[in-house]
Amino acid sequence: MSLTVADVSSATRSALDAIVMAKDLAQLKLVKIEHLGDKSNLSKASQALGKIAPEQKAQFGKVVGAAKAEVTAAFDARLVVLESERDAKVLAEERVDVTLPATKMPKGGLHPLTILTNEISDLFIGLGYRVAEGPELEAEWLNFDALNIPADHPARTMQDTFFIEPLESRLVLRTHTSPVQIRTMLEDQPPIYVICPGRTYRADELDATHTPVFSQVEGLVIDRGITMADLKGTLDYFAQSIFGPDVKTRLRPSFFPFTEPSAEVDFFFNGRWIEWGGCGMVNPKVLEVCGIDTSEFSGFAFGMGLERTLMVRHGITDMHDIVEGDIRFTRSFGVGGR
Ligand code: PHE
Repeated sequence: MSLTVADVSSATRSALDAIVMAKDLAQLKLVKIEHLGDKSNLSKASQALGKIAPEQKAQFGKVVGAAKAEVTAAFDARLVVLESERDAKVLAEERVDVTLPATKMPKGGLHPLTILTNEISDLFIGLGYRVAEGPELEAEWLNFDALNIPADHPARTMQDTFFIEPLESRLVLRTHTSPVQIRTMLEDQPPIYVICPGRTYRADELDATHTPVFSQVEGLVIDRGITMADLKGTLDYFAQSIFGPDVKTRLRPSFFPFTEPSAEVDFFFNGRWIEWGGCGMVNPKVLEVCGIDTSEFSGFAFGMGLERTLMVRHGITDMHDIVEGDIRFTRSFGVGGR
């Protein structure tokens, strides 16, 4: 195959045309393969140099070298142009408008019951109490027997208590926070000052005033010379801190197996007496079960429902609002973002 100077200049022209015509980097890449690649006419001209008569070699070599240099330079120049065009396009397409308003992510918030629980815990911590906890899945013995609730007590029947299968496990979902009294007295030596908020369970239907999963807060004090006056003073302080400084409490005689004497505590709020919970002096039988010397120590205990406390304080009329987790309810307490 012989190549003439005219062939080289026509190969050069068509290469330069193709380079100018390439609209983007992908096209330019194809142009390079076709016009500068191994099988291009210019490469073939270089290869042909080997077979050319020596007297023509120098002159033809110059022509081919100059052609290749020209095409390569044109290619490099076009590459720079197309690359900067591509960069400008990417910058325009991926531009971020920093003036656009941001999407606000709502903040999580605590449930009003949790807020109340924390408030009560803080209140009693301020009085020198500590927060005690116990399991919700509780030994039947701690939930009942140790609290002087005998086996035939109505609170133990299937209607009130969730028993856990197999029944030989002797486990229940705790029906009150009072087993934490026992746990505390078995573990600690008096003086004991504890507050125990927690979840409790009874086999009730969910309606406007009941829920099978509810919360209580238990208070327990064991020390020397503790009397009912200490209990009354503590309840007054508790009620006034939660419901307002003018709130009064009253005790009505009642019965609980684990307190003696026992009382119901009511508080006067918005012109009427409202039942709040149970209380009393810890029954010496219970102290003895826990190995506490009743000649030296006495104590009081109280327990109330947190849902009821929240309902009264905030005028909530339907228990469903507390348990159903609708964020509109939570937001009305100023938590949970919007
Ligand atoms: N545990 C009792 C209840 O659930 C309340 C209570 C607690 C009563 C402490 C007296 C002392 O009804």
